[in-house]
Amino acid sequence: MPLPTFPRNFLWGTATAAAQIEGAAQLDGKGPSIWDTFSRRPGAVHNGDTPEIACDHYHRFDADFALMRRLGIRHYRLSLSWPRLFPNGRGPANPAGIAFYHRLFASLAKHGITPWVTLFHWDLPQALEDEGGWRNRAVVDAFRTYAETAVREYRGAVKNWITLNEILCFTRLGYGTGQKAPGARESEAIVNQTYHHALLCHGHAVRAVRAWGGARARVGIADNPTIPIPIDRDARTLAAARRAFIADNVRVLEPLFTGRYPRSYLRAAGRDAPLVARGDLPLISQPLDFIGLNIYTGHYVRAGRGGAPERLPFPAHYPTTNCSWQHLVPEALYWGPRLFHEIYGPLPIYITENGAGYDEELAATGEVHDLHRCTYLRLYLRELHTALAEGLPVKGYFLWSLLDNFEWEDGYERRFGIVHNDFKTQRRTPKLSARWYADLIRTRTLL
Ligand code: FCB
Repeated sequence: MPLPTFPRNFLWGTATAAAQIEGAAQLDGKGPSIWDTFSRRPGAVHNGDTPEIACDHYHRFDADFALMRRLGIRHYRLSLSWPRLFPNGRGPANPAGIAFYHRLFASLAKHGITPWVTLFHWDLPQALEDEGGWRNRAVVDAFRTYAETAVREYRGAVKNWITLNEILCFTRLGYGTGQKAPGARESEAIVNQTYHHALLCHGHAVRAVRAWGGARARVGIADNPTIPIPIDRDARTLAAARRAFIADNVRVLEPLFTGRYPRSYLRAAGRDAPLVARGDLPLISQPLDFIGLNIYTGHYVRAGRGGAPERLPFPAHYPTTNCSWQHLVPEALYWGPRLFHEIYGPLPIYITENGAGYDEELAATGEVHDLHRCTYLRLYLRELHTALAEGLPVKGYFLWSLLDNFEWEDGYERRFGIVHNDFKTQRRTPKLSARWYADLIRTRTLL
């Protein structure tokens, strides 16, 4: 059997987010984000870590991009910090913040790296949270101005736009379970409303790119659907997996791609259903140029009573990374694209995140032998290769992450980088997986 080889035009990148790497949290006029505030709440973030300095990428981006280029990585997904551009969320823009990203994009261009820019990766300006944050529909107007400003400002440098990152995480986990910023625990009705407001922001960002992005601009969203893996290929099992995919992701994918909240969802939600104004759903469901899927894990399903999907619990000894949520389910990288494609149609698909989080340190030799990450990536990418071989329109893959960084509520201990970062010295050390990824990009062949 020939080794799995990826097509020549398949695109390889890495991904990061502003709050996780930039640092400079109070520099040059940046306003506080909800993560700056939340991380100071005792017990909220592991070890009391904060995004204050992170990877100090704010001052080191040029060297980071030079390293990326040495590894042969030509595509880079990053996010803009809303509170760096608008310290109060709305009102006057911050000229130093605007200038920062111009410098950053110039450096990317110098190194021949194409930017893929996420407008919102969770760092809501604290000033907007003080007005209710995602609970309050007023957030949508503030976001609209921010998105229009960013697209108009950077249209010369940026052609690939991603509106929002993982709506589920900053709504349900921020306002429902409270494990992420702002750490609120609201009713289901409020949580559903935060989803809806996020979708409206997505719609405005799409409009901004269409209006101001220029002829070659493309826009999509980075979603993290829950991915059911059928335990076999029996027709009933496949049908159950399809049903599970729709039901589990109903709040985001259905309105985005069908332009409605399904009746079954509205009936089940009852009084907790979101308030929807006239014109909202057409705004939310404008056509996109691609879908970004962030895929780390999945869960196994079979057909239960009446064909209803039944989720199999993971046994206690089932392998995970050091993240308890990250069960090793490589098939998710096959079934995610396949189910999305079968249900929502032929949009180009990018894997906008995939990677593995471990608590690892430098060995005495100064190296990081992250064989565990290489194995994880190899297993997942084999499945992605199968998806391509079957003709699914997967166009590219962004590894999370370039660097170890501020892993939200898990702080700095949980490392996702292919490049190790020493947070005391800011010294960068490529791990074994960085070499492995560089070889994959060079040869296009999975070893
Ligand atoms: C995703 C986030 C990203 C990173 C990875 C590990 O949910 O989008 O910022 O934290 O998980």
